[in-house]
Amino acid sequence: MKILIVNSNEELAKAGYNWIVEILRTQSTPVLGMATGSSPMGIYKLMRENHLDVSHTVTVNLDEYINVPANHENSYHCFMKKQLFDHISFKKIFLPNGMAENLQEECLRYEQVLDEYPVDLQILGIGENGHIGFNEPGTSFSSRTHVIQLTESTRHANRRFFNHEHDVPTHAITMGIASIMKAKRIMLLAMGTAKASAVRQLLEGPITEKCPATILREHPDVLIITDQQALSLC
Ligand code: GLP
Repeated sequence: MKILIVNSNEELAKAGYNWIVEILRTQSTPVLGMATGSSPMGIYKLMRENHLDVSHTVTVNLDEYINVPANHENSYHCFMKKQLFDHISFKKIFLPNGMAENLQEECLRYEQVLDEYPVDLQILGIGENGHIGFNEPGTSFSSRTHVIQLTESTRHANRRFFNHEHDVPTHAITMGIASIMKAKRIMLLAMGTAKASAVRQLLEGPITEKCPATILREHPDVLIITDQQALSLC
């Protein structure tokens, strides 16, 4: 794993953006694995503001809440529309459908999407408990796209986006850990003291399903973009 230490969210955004530009420049149909949350927002802002040409690019999102309609402001569909899809036009976009009647079939469909469009660069944030996507501690390293019950810690961390605690969804559909590990390259973004414990485990702890992000140490091409605050427990 390579580690790039930055001093601000602006520096993180520039570094991440430059890497995306490089991938888009060198491949005929690049596939970007997209993440939600605050961490990638600066990168998406630069993509919007620079009117990045993504007409040849396919996106595949990591996860979506279950039972939150796509047009609801808290859905990840809506987040992606506001951040990117309403501003720049991709060749194709894919997100899991958290409203699907048959969620097991939806998981299989999403794995087929990933088979058809193998991810060239997966963007990842990291949960305070070390989750990636919505793969909570205890998720099998061999998991594929699946339905997961969110932990109280994750619901609490994501509470800031919702009006009331009880509005925070209890379940999500997420690419599995094995699905994420198939990406050719991975860029993980971790800023601030809230991520310090997860980052310490990621870099120094045992590789264990108790901290899903630790599996990334077995991936051949991972870049972690982080800051001194997130590294403060290392
Ligand atoms: C959510 C998302 C994750 C994201 C995490 C961290 O749980 N499902 O994909 O990495 O939040 O979010 P943030 O970047 O806001 O800290």
